[in-house]
Amino acid sequence: MTPPPPIGLLAELTHRCPLRCPYCSNPLALAAADGELTTADWARVFRQAAELGVLQLHLSGGEPAARRDLVELVSHAAGAGLYTNLITSGMMLDAGRLAALAEAGLDHVQLSVQDSEPGSADRIAGFPGGHARKLAFAGLVTQAGLPFTLNAVVHRQNLDHLGEIVALALQLGAKRLEVAHVQYYGWALLNRDHLLPTRDQLDRATVMVEQARSEHRGVLSIDYVVPDYYATEPKACMGGWGRQVMVVNPTGKVLPCHAAESLPGMVFESVLDRDLASIWTSSEAFEMYRGTGWMRGPCQGCVNAERDWGGCRCQAFALTGDATATDPACRLSRDHSLLDVAVQRAAAPAGDFIYRERARVKTSVL
Ligand code: SF4
Ligand code: FES
Repeated sequence: MTPPPPIGLLAELTHRCPLRCPYCSNPLALAAADGELTTADWARVFRQAAELGVLQLHLSGGEPAARRDLVELVSHAAGAGLYTNLITSGMMLDAGRLAALAEAGLDHVQLSVQDSEPGSADRIAGFPGGHARKLAFAGLVTQAGLPFTLNAVVHRQNLDHLGEIVALALQLGAKRLEVAHVQYYGWALLNRDHLLPTRDQLDRATVMVEQARSEHRGVLSIDYVVPDYYATEPKACMGGWGRQVMVVNPTGKVLPCHAAESLPGMVFESVLDRDLASIWTSSEAFEMYRGTGWMRGPCQGCVNAERDWGGCRCQAFALTGDATATDPACRLSRDHSLLDVAVQRAAAPAGDFIYRERARVKTSVL
């Protein structure tokens, strides 16, 4: 049966980034700049995405503004009829370039911050002075009249500042705050002992979010979900494998999720060899965990199978070494106790962050 078209496409334009966040969702092996798709390649991908039925395009990285052709890329995407969301650190965009992006048809900006407190934010990002630049960029976004979301990745080292992060979102004029708990694959898995929050922290944060939601209703909406390591039910990762979203990485490989390359033995096809629609509908990688036919163990026949789609394949592999296992976030998984073990281990971390390898890019406007 032909699957319905994806709603969204996440275009990882580049892995280059001035920041070095220790929970980066990019793979441990970062793509080199000379292997990135060209402007013409991306323009073709955007046209094919729109023809396939994609509505929303998320321009991400690394730092997407490290691409000199970002304005041109937005223009191609808007020309194809896609809603364009720029996910950025705000470190490489000045007022002129932002105005050009708005002129080219950019619809929305999603700005990441590492903390509310500048010293802590800069330490987490591995970039002195970065937080101040982000705040300045947020001012440019509101001046340009672009709607924007503040995105805060939270973990043990900043979760106690959530109240201040909410205040920062209000001060900056964001309409939405996305509070995203770290997900543990790739760089974040390497740093898990430094990042996993405690149960007490999590409980305080959850109460705080509920209060802030009611206090700021109609002004600021707050996205927040309980992190997997404290959950009893898994989330439908990416809305289910091969169901709602596809990811194109900087070199053109098409992935069902941003961490899929961590799964061994899988072959991901490229937009340089095959069109997006046929990769979506019939490539082996997208078929592998689509639907429920691949499930076994407690997932097979479970009443929730078409609600959470078995959770996250990358998390199942990261924790159990078996990508077909039930996601340990599920209380029915025989591996559920692995989460408790990880939380206990994280109570006494050794050493410091392992920062993401820094891609050498200039941080001035390109
Ligand atoms: Fe979801 Fe599988 Fe757990 Fe059922 S057993 S709730 S399908 S992860
Ligand atoms: Fe790959 Fe969840 S991140 S399936």
